Order: sequence, then C-alpha cells, then structure tokens
Amino acid sequence: MDIRVNLNYSGVDEEAIKNGRDAAAEKLRALWSGEMEYTGWVDYPARCSEEEIRRLEETADGIRGNSEVFLVLGAGGSFMGAKAVIDLLQSPDSGMEVIFAGYNFSARYVMEIMRRVGDRDVSLCVISKSGTTMETLTAYSIFEKWMKERYGSEAVSRIYVITGEESNYLRNKAEEEGISCFSLEKNIGGRYSVFSPVGLLPIAVAGISIREFLNGGKALAKAEAFEGDALDYAIARQELYARGRNVEVFESFDPYFNYFGEWLKQLFGESEGKEGKGILPYTLIFSRDLHSMGQFLQQGHPCFFETLFTLSEEGTGAAMDYPIPETALDYLVGKTLNQINKCAERGVFDAHVKAGIPVIEISMPSQDAYHVGMLMYFFEVQCAVSALLAEVCPFDQPGVEAYKRETRAHIRELAE
Ligand code: PA5
Repeated sequence: MDIRVNLNYSGVDEEAIKNGRDAAAEKLRALWSGEMEYTGWVDYPARCSEEEIRRLEETADGIRGNSEVFLVLGAGGSFMGAKAVIDLLQSPDSGMEVIFAGYNFSARYVMEIMRRVGDRDVSLCVISKSGTTMETLTAYSIFEKWMKERYGSEAVSRIYVITGEESNYLRNKAEEEGISCFSLEKNIGGRYSVFSPVGLLPIAVAGISIREFLNGGKALAKAEAFEGDALDYAIARQELYARGRNVEVFESFDPYFNYFGEWLKQLFGESEGKEGKGILPYTLIFSRDLHSMGQFLQQGHPCFFETLFTLSEEGTGAAMDYPIPETALDYLVGKTLNQINKCAERGVFDAHVKAGIPVIEISMPSQDAYHVGMLMYFFEVQCAVSALLAEVCPFDQPGVEAYKRETRAHIRELAE
C-alpha cells in the first residue's frame, strides 16, 4: 500500500496493536460479507462500470464545453468529498470554476454566488440522495428559478440531478421535467459516496481524472489490501480513545487540505459519534493554526491525539516550489518555501512528541488523483472498522433528524 502509517510515536505499543488485529480483521470481513446494510461502497471503485465512467466523462466534457462555472448544490456527503478532491487537485488552468452551495441558508452566500458568476455561462448540479434535504432543496428552488430566468427553456439542458435510485421528490421532479439524472445506489450512504457519481461528476467537471481517482480507490478495494498491519491505524485510535484521548486532531501543512479535513470530520463524526461514544474529529491547518492552537496542543489538556498528514520527501519536491529572495531573514536565504514548510512540519512533530502527545503520521508519495483516491478509500475503511470496533453502526446518523424536526417546526410557525 502506498499509504504509510507511522505508529512509532502514537504511544500505543506493538503488543496492544497485535492484540487488536483479530477483531479488526473480523470487522473487515463483515464489511465484505455482503450481509451488512450500506456497504455498497466497499467494492464500488472496482465495480464502477466502463459505461458509467464514460457517461460521466462525456457529461463533464459537455459541461466544460458550454460553461465556465459549475454550480453544485449538496450537503454533507453530497458535496464534501468532491470539494476536498477539487481543492487539493484542480489545476489553476482548468478553465472551470466549481462552486458549492446548498449546505446553508445564508442569503448573503446565495446572492454572492449570483454576483460572482456574473454573466459567465453556468451549469447547475443538484445532489441529494434522499431528494429532500432542506438546505439543498431550498437552494435548488432559488437557483433553478435563476437558471430559467437566464436560459429560458434551455435551462433544463444545463441542469443535472444526482439522487437515490428510489422514487423521491427530486427524482420525480427531474423525470417530469426531462432533467439528466445520475443515481446513487441505495446501499451507499452519503459520506461513503465520493467514488460514485456524487463525487465523480464534479471532480470530472473540474478537469481531474476520475479514472486515476477511481484506480487509487480500486487498488485498495479488495479485502486482501487490508491484511496484516493495514488496519493498525483503526486499532490504534480505538486504543488511544480507551486511554482517554477523546479528540483526534487531523493536521496538515497544506492550506488546500482544509476541505479534506472537513470531509474527514464528517466521515468520522457521523460514523462514530453515537450512543454516547465517539472520538471527536477536529482539523488544524499549519502553520496558520500554530499561531492560535499551537499553545493548547503543546501544553493544554491532554485529551487528544494527533494524526499528521505528510508527503514523503520525493512528493514534496515534485510539487510547485518558490525560492526565498535574498532580502529575507539570513537563515532563510537560499532555501525554498517547500523546504521551510518541511522543516516546520518536522519541527512541530519533534516538539509535540517531546511533549508526550501521541502522534500518528500518515504519508503518501505524491498528491495526485490516484493517491488522493487511495487515501480517501483508506479512510473510509479505517473509519468503518473503527466504528465497528467501538460497537456502533458506521452507516446511520439518527441524531441528525432532531435538528431537522425542530427546524421544520419553527418554519411552520412562521407560516401561521
Ligand atoms: O452521510 C450522510 O448520509 C449525510 O451526511 C448526507 O450526505 C447529508 O445529510 C445529505 O443528505 P442527502 O444526500 O440525502 O441530501
């Protein structure tokens, strides 16, 4: 596996990890058994058909051909995976701006998007598995009207719907209006859907290779890929949790990693946080957050452990780089930004390990579609296994209903 997990500084000894391997392997077998609900994602990167990939690529080419902006409406798992990948990988020369909305009720946000799009040509994609999510459907009603005002009867040919296979409000409306529709399988939940059309269509429109992305997932989408020590990360985090480390701080030195962190927060938060249990996922981007949270990490309450993302040396060298000018502080002159960023990463690692903080390091060889696909699939498996080890269902989110119920009650009161 190209993803490397360094547990040498996690504070969890080898014995404890080895003791957890049988249980983790059993949970992995359960995921692959075909008997557990909502495990359709497990083999999806391997079984996504050539026909489906071509349809997605052709649709993306069509959108890239007639639009400069792709406006994607979705909430939670219906946008975070695609946004994470696009933020990390989209080339500045891709010629396409992908804007995400439909995950809040902010009027300012909606109006700002309309202003930002200006008179550029736009296509609209609405993504909701249930076809009923309030934030997404509210935004859809607004942007559908806006599209119709701009394009009249041609608007329909610029709108795309991605929704669950079964009959729902959004699917029925799309079918009635002749809107192009992609389906998300019933057996794949939102936060595990980045390898389905939910993630793939926006990623393809951004000009990123979905074949490479899928190949990265596919390389691990077989039970054998997680034999031996490959589930040790899931075991270690449960072990740390048992020792009172209730918060996992995901850290990166890449500012474009921000939404990857949001995706991880959703994946772990919704999968594990139930029945009074769960490791609270938290994300920090360095070195920005060293100037705000660095103090807490170094000397604050020891309630957390850290999971630090790094690129191996070769990966860092291959990325864009910039030399430090001669006018800089003496010790910086002659170096490059990447070199200094790497020194900051190693410096933080050393300082935190010396302070006794458990640090897990996860590294990949390079930041490209293949390896980002691999990393996302890796985390989906680790998260599901970890939740099963904690004896909670990784695939439901019963707690989310409460806020929806209360919000609807308040909206109904408005109408009266
Ligand atoms: O992981 C999940 O299932 C959720 O986060 C959903 O993705 C989110 O609530 C959006 O749901 P829907 O796709 O039905 O609009």
